[in-house]
Amino acid sequence: MALLSERVLNMSTSATLAMAAKARELKNEGKNIIGLSLGEPDFNTPDFIKEAAIQAINDNYNSYTPVDGYAELKDAIIQKFKRDNNLTYTPNQIVVSTGAKQSLANVAMVLLNDGDEVILPAPFWVSYSDIVKLAEGVPVEVSTSIETDFKMTPEQLEAAITPKTKMIWFSSPCNPSGSVYSEAELRALAAVLEKHPNIYVVSDEIYEHINFTSEHFSIARIPSMYDRTITVNGVSKAFAMTGWRIGYIGGPEKIARACNKIQGQITSGANCIAQRATIAALEASTDKIQYMIDEFLKRRDIVLELLQEIEGFNVNVPEGAFYVFPDISSFFGKTLRGKTINNATDFSTYLLEEALVATVTGEAFGNPNCIRISYAASEAELRQAIQQIKEALQ
Ligand SMILES: Cc1ncc(COP(=O)(O)O)c(C=O)c1O
Repeated sequence: MALLSERVLNMSTSATLAMAAKARELKNEGKNIIGLSLGEPDFNTPDFIKEAAIQAINDNYNSYTPVDGYAELKDAIIQKFKRDNNLTYTPNQIVVSTGAKQSLANVAMVLLNDGDEVILPAPFWVSYSDIVKLAEGVPVEVSTSIETDFKMTPEQLEAAITPKTKMIWFSSPCNPSGSVYSEAELRALAAVLEKHPNIYVVSDEIYEHINFTSEHFSIARIPSMYDRTITVNGVSKAFAMTGWRIGYIGGPEKIARACNKIQGQITSGANCIAQRATIAALEASTDKIQYMIDEFLKRRDIVLELLQEIEGFNVNVPEGAFYVFPDISSFFGKTLRGKTINNATDFSTYLLEEALVATVTGEAFGNPNCIRISYAASEAELRQAIQQIKEALQ
């Protein structure tokens, strides 16, 4: 009998973490690698949030919390949904988890049976596909390209639906493309879903605040979608709190209670101090984090301008998150410095070895023509990295 389960043997390792490990290896060999592969803000957690955590420690918040989160935190989440998204939830519709990643895993486990299909507009966030497979679901990738700003059209959605379709999962703003679905685009997708009342929607809004368009729109605001949308969010990205591990969902009560049941057997709930800190984060005015959003926008524009100077890079204008997702397929078949580039993975590896810049292959996100470059790095690092990329491609 094999030691490891088929479940884990069939899983792929996170490509972003694999790239970070490879970059670390080269760093240990003395190479000066500029890391643009991780999806992590390079800011410190704001002081007002840190102070709330210190206060919680001093106030002896040290016991198990309610499995689905402190009542005060659930209230803060309810207020946040109302204030930012015009969504109304009751406490029984909210579940706090150990990061949005766990929120997504909970939803997959409570909704999927063997063979149920989940539509993933590609490019999608790297973990979606493996989370779905872990829950015995079948990811159904719908390819998009730079021509449609990496967004799925209603026609594509309609064509991907089968009697086995259980859910559609997407992020807006999107990791990795930075694309933001407008209200009109979401209404058009909703019109297709209205014809298929048994399909649920997972709307991953973790980059909500890192949105350079004038408005973020939640698909659950569309009345026909509210009862079948699970809105996923968290504090990792906008509040620079990746390591605090707090995410949450708002959704139909039946689904929330099922997530609570799963969590009760697996984690007993999220960390108590991080939950108290999250109350401070969510209750604060979003003005308090605007300096980070402004900085991301500034960097996006610098990166776009510099990348456009590199022949062969085809770049869209990402409207949110902190990534650019250039199409680099024009390099396929070329040989540079004796190395042949056949695909995005070869290209990303070439940049690591020859430009000393860590990026992530688009293959990990379901798009084999692109690479993801994170601009959650200082302006000086970004300028230096792109200069090195330019030189390595000459
Ligand atoms: C689209 C998307 N969803 C979810 C997550 C997970 O966030 P968390 O840190 O809250 O688990 C990430 C993190 O990279 C992400 O990019």
